[in-house]
Parts: sequence; C-alpha cells; structure tokens
Amino acid sequence: MKRRINIINKLAKIKKMNIAVLVSGSGSNLQAIINAIENGYFEGKLTIKAVIADRDCYAIERALDAEIDTWMVDRGPALSKEIDNICSDNDIDLIVLAGFLSILDAEFCQKWDKQIINLHPSLLPKYGGMGMYGEKVHTAVLANEEKHSGATVHYVTAGVDEGEIITQESFEVPEDADLLWLKNKISEIEKPLLLSALKKIALGNKA
Ligand code: GAR
Repeated sequence: MKRRINIINKLAKIKKMNIAVLVSGSGSNLQAIINAIENGYFEGKLTIKAVIADRDCYAIERALDAEIDTWMVDRGPALSKEIDNICSDNDIDLIVLAGFLSILDAEFCQKWDKQIINLHPSLLPKYGGMGMYGEKVHTAVLANEEKHSGATVHYVTAGVDEGEIITQESFEVPEDADLLWLKNKISEIEKPLLLSALKKIALGNKA
C-alpha cells in the first residue's frame, strides 16, 4: 500500500503544466516564454500547448516558427466560448494573457478562476481597466508626470485588471522620459516578471 502511494506522488510531480498563451500583438512576451522553455528555465515542467490570437499579428509567426498549435478566434460574441473550447480540448492548466486585448466574459473568468493570469504594463491598480492597454498606459503615465511606473502580473477576474496581484516590478521614471523610453523600459522588465510568475506557478515552492 505504501509503495502505491509513492508511485502516485511521483506521477503528480512529473506532470507538466500545459499553458495556452493568448496574444494580439508582436508577441515578444510569448517569445520570452518560448525561449525560456528551450533553455530549461522551467526544468521541463511547462509546455505551451496552444497559442490563441484574436487578430492577425506577429505573435502568430512566432508561434508557428516554434511549431506550436495556433488558433485565430473571431472577436465576436462567441470569443470566450471558442477560447474555452480550445483550452478544454487541449487539457490546459493555465491561460496566460500576454498582450491579449479582448475582454473575456464573466462566465469564462469564473470557470477558469485562478487559472488565468494577465501581464499589464503599469503598477495596478493604477492605469488599469477597460481601454487601458499598451501605449495608452504609457501616454497616461507620462501625462500625469508619474515618478514611478512598472508592470504587474495578476489573476484575471470579470473586473478588468482587478484580480489579485501575483507580482509587480517598479522603476523610477526620469524627468526626460518619453514614450519610446517608457515603452522600452516596460518591455525590458516585464519579461523576467512574467517568467518568474510562471515559474512559481509551474514549480510551486521549488521556484
Ligand atoms: C505588453 O507590454 C503587455 O504588458 C501589454 O501589451 C504588450 C504586449 O507586448 N498588455 C496590455 O496592455 C494588456 N492590458 P507583446 O505582444 O510584445 O508581448
């Protein structure tokens, strides 16, 4: 009996975490995950089972280059249902929004509660919510002469950008910072932030 329990534990330990990455843009964060998997950052415990795009975007090229199964979904009323079907059919454990710009409906968020994470280019709760994404965030941060900005990884709930914060990274915004500077700085810090959050979720206490 004791031996059987050991075998079950061993199986649980070797289970890989299957993720789906949802994208709308250049996919630089998707690329960071692909690279991290290739260089062993997740110790073989994480695999991208699906990339889902809601529009034609460069992220699709990156996914296809890495030979990942890739879907394009229509940005209509059935969007959340289509994503739900893909994730259920592919045995997905975690859904990663990496620059995904569509809003997922409440039913979807409830079904996948604590199984969806989002990367956001600000220090939430500041500069979040409907319509706050990408350069719009940076423009607002600069217009308000914020002394600090940063990025956040959080769980996704029905309230846009309101779910529990997993991790944040902040930096000082120099007085002469412009849009390009802020965009590049966010892009630089958000990759390690997203990867470390993913590692913690995939490897648990070991990360
Ligand atoms: C990232 O900066 C991410 O934080 C932001 O979109 C960019 C995607 O870049 N996400 C949001 O604004 C979501 N509200 P990528 O396509 O190169 O990964």
